Amino acid sequence: MATFQSLPGFRDFYPEDLAKRTHIFRLWRQTAAAFGFAEYDTPVLEPLDLYRAKSGDEIEAQLFSFADKGGREVALRPEMTPSVCRLVGARANALKRPIKWFSIAEFYRYERMQKGRGRCFHQFNADIFGEAGPEAEIELIALLVECMRVFGLTEKDFFVRLSDRNLWFHYLGSLGLDEPRIRALLGAVDKHERGGDDAFKPYEEAFGAIPADLKAKVLAFQSIRSFAQLEAALGAAAASAELAQRLAQWRTLLGGLEAMGLAGFVQVDLGVVRGLAYYTGFVFEAFDRKGELRALAGGGRYDDLVGRLGGTPLPAVGFAIGEMTFALLLEERGLSPAVVQAADIYCVIGSAAERRAAFADIRRLRALGYRVEYPMRELAFGKQFKAAADSGARLALIYGAEELARGMVKVRDMAERSERDVPAAGVGDAVRGLFEAH
Ligand code: HAM
Repeated sequence: MATFQSLPGFRDFYPEDLAKRTHIFRLWRQTAAAFGFAEYDTPVLEPLDLYRAKSGDEIEAQLFSFADKGGREVALRPEMTPSVCRLVGARANALKRPIKWFSIAEFYRYERMQKGRGRCFHQFNADIFGEAGPEAEIELIALLVECMRVFGLTEKDFFVRLSDRNLWFHYLGSLGLDEPRIRALLGAVDKHERGGDDAFKPYEEAFGAIPADLKAKVLAFQSIRSFAQLEAALGAAAASAELAQRLAQWRTLLGGLEAMGLAGFVQVDLGVVRGLAYYTGFVFEAFDRKGELRALAGGGRYDDLVGRLGGTPLPAVGFAIGEMTFALLLEERGLSPAVVQAADIYCVIGSAAERRAAFADIRRLRALGYRVEYPMRELAFGKQFKAAADSGARLALIYGAEELARGMVKVRDMAERSERDVPAAGVGDAVRGLFEAH
């Protein structure tokens, strides 16, 4: 008979795995709430057109897309950004600004199989709409860092590489290149770190061999690793009103991050340009310090997208952390929690005759918020005590015929191995007292 497995790149979550994921999501939710972000969600299935010519060629090529029974062209969402733009754009005038929203959701991309990348994965997305200045970037990078720090990771474990597509456009424009060539070169820069000079192939296929001096200039610009180097590379052009204003924004951003105590987490790095097509300004990506893993997170400013998707134009900036790579990093650093949920109370039940009394208490104790387990079938006492120990319960309640005849239930402290009788009519109060005394 055929056995069925999950599709390549799709994961099953057994309870112990899901407990880890849930723990990650819980801390991300708490952190986003502390920063004043509100949670939203959107459909998994979207019109294909939402992604066409917006996310960029790479994501478009990776779409899970098909025609539905009504003949509509649809796609499983590969990312959240176009969807959240639709939501915000449709209500832009009614929403209080700045709009600070987050979500935790599942995405689908037909990726090549590799470590830390799946075809189905979760992201935490956080975005700010309606704020044009770098103050939004400060808030978001602070949130990104906190979402990692809250697990015990430090600046020795990860960092954020900060770059600027706006300056890349300026710089390549100043070399006399038109927009299609600039976009092709940014594509090459995005791939160069992992792919080497092969990254220039798509540019050369479209526009012919790249002149050696242009290639040298591109490689030099992408190797910039500090604000001082950046100013120097722009040279005399930095005095132009437009560039002077841009550099002032850089100073605001770096100054704000420093004031937030985040300077040690952030590295100026023009080698980051982001693969997605819609970014217009500052862009950033988070990586593990050892450089062993794929990107942990990525984001940036995309001031045109809300308007291009038909909404009221709104400046926007945001990022997404991928759960898969992040979980690998936590695992490697020994920070992945052992979150097997133990029972609080195990009820040991003598025989069918004692079940009535036990069941009434089980219902009450659960309503009080305790995690309560009991044997589904009649079992010998020895087996029940073993099950009680395996469940991790702190207390065992023993409903024996002899105790109940005296109007009592026996309570055993599983760690101390001590026992006492409590009145059967007041088990809830007795248990609460014992848990509070601990
Ligand atoms: P992205 O760089 O495509 O950006 O994805 C962000 C993060 O999601 C990556 O750094 C990675 O951790 C994770 N990720 C992406 N693809 C996969 C995959 N196939 N398997 C596992 N994890 C993956 C975006 O998606 C933008 N929409 C982020 C954004 C939000 N920009 C503005 N707002």
